[in-house]
Amino acid sequence: MDEKAIIRIGDRQFECPTIVGSEHEKAIDVRQLRGETGYITYDDGYGNTGSCQSAITYIDGDEGILRHRGYPIQELAEHSDFVESAYLIIYGELPTEDELRRFRARISGNANLHEGMLRILDHFPDDSHPMAILSVMLNAIGCHYSEMASNNREQDLDHFDWASTLLLAKVRTIAALTYRMKEGKPWMYSKPSFRYCQNFLHMMFSEPYQDFMPREEVIDALDLILLLHADHEQNCSTSTVRMIASSGANLFASVVGGVSALWGPLHGGANMEVVKMLQQIHDDGDDGSRFIAAAKDGKQRLMGFGHRVYKNFDPRSRLLRSRADKLFAKLEAPDPLLDIAKHLEDAALKDDYFIERKLYPNVDFYSGIILRAIGIPLEMFTVIFAIGRMPGWIAHWRELASHPKQKIHRPRQIYTGATERRYVPLEKR
Ligand SMILES: CC(C)(COP(=O)(O)OP(=O)(O)OC[C@H]1O[C@@H](n2cnc3c(N)ncnc32)[C@H](O)[C@@H]1OP(=O)(O)O)[C@@H](O)C(=O)NCCC(=O)NCCS
Repeated sequence: MDEKAIIRIGDRQFECPTIVGSEHEKAIDVRQLRGETGYITYDDGYGNTGSCQSAITYIDGDEGILRHRGYPIQELAEHSDFVESAYLIIYGELPTEDELRRFRARISGNANLHEGMLRILDHFPDDSHPMAILSVMLNAIGCHYSEMASNNREQDLDHFDWASTLLLAKVRTIAALTYRMKEGKPWMYSKPSFRYCQNFLHMMFSEPYQDFMPREEVIDALDLILLLHADHEQNCSTSTVRMIASSGANLFASVVGGVSALWGPLHGGANMEVVKMLQQIHDDGDDGSRFIAAAKDGKQRLMGFGHRVYKNFDPRSRLLRSRADKLFAKLEAPDPLLDIAKHLEDAALKDDYFIERKLYPNVDFYSGIILRAIGIPLEMFTVIFAIGRMPGWIAHWRELASHPKQKIHRPRQIYTGATERRYVPLEKR
């Protein structure tokens, strides 16, 4: 593209090239700015900063578009499943039948944990947070397969196919066994013949004397939740994974950083907050009207509403609302929280406060209610998000690690602290 951006500082002028992406997103390339002018750009929170060029996921928040490798999320939700979409996100193309069969086999064949890892898991205090356990255990996989976690880029890329499937397989086992450890229940080993989510539910809820046999609708609903979380371009946890990977760190160490970032309530914790909010509304005997009035007064936020990027609708939320309806139609015990959620959504979408601020339900609004219906305890919700986001973290690690001219990520800052001063001896302070 020939267009140039002109930056004028005093009587000096600097020309920046511009970049256009495949979906016509435009950027000003400021990489030479500091060297030429001494100025850096300042963008607290990175709302206007493109940290990389990426071919994995495209989002248009104004139009409510989300596509992985070009495929609309609605088509993937209808025709694909989590494991196939994970392959697509990681490798860039839908797998052939043979590629998919081998990918699934590698995942199901690697689901169980090394006995040494089970011993580590067994020694956490019962009240440890599952996200803390997850981060330790993911790095522990790297300890058990040290040839895949060498921090030698070429060697780690050579082992990538195995390392990535180990992560996809074991993150689910770690999550399920964390729940069992906290409940004081014996380990359940995976059943290789089970599909990804069926196996997860088996490892969580089966007993040595009785298999847990969930309905197909339950397995499918969990699969959809994972699929809808699989990637979301440069969000906080994925950017963290890329930042760590840029130093040359191996895949295991990098995704552990993603887990830590996701743990924060502003990122991975919102679906939990939605369920707490709905429960509170239910316990207060409110149909949601009082809560909405309080949200408009700025006294509280309607959790699961609003998004930094989506300003029209979040396509994932629409898919989840209809899936929640389908699931609850099959379950014997309808959840009163679903009715409250639907009432809240309908009321908010007609209300000027929410319309003017472009606040729509986001992915977290219905996912929590579905997880609750499946029987997943509240404190495991963010771990489920982490299982879902694993393909995205892996794909971004691979994209960055495969880039021949990859540089370490190293933002600048505007220093606002004390200027130079002399050391004061202790007795004079
Ligand atoms: C997601 C979120 C952090 C996005 O924030 P943002 O784009 O920075 O938007 P802002 O915080 O600047 O809010 C813009 C306006 O909308 C209001 N607003 C935003 N989200 C709101 C919500 N969930 N309920 C009520 N009001 C909300 C703000 O009070 C602000 O109003 P004002 O202009 O009168 O001050 C925010 O919408 C939020 O906190 N949502 C609830 C938590 C949640 O669901 N998080 C999961 C995200 S996937």
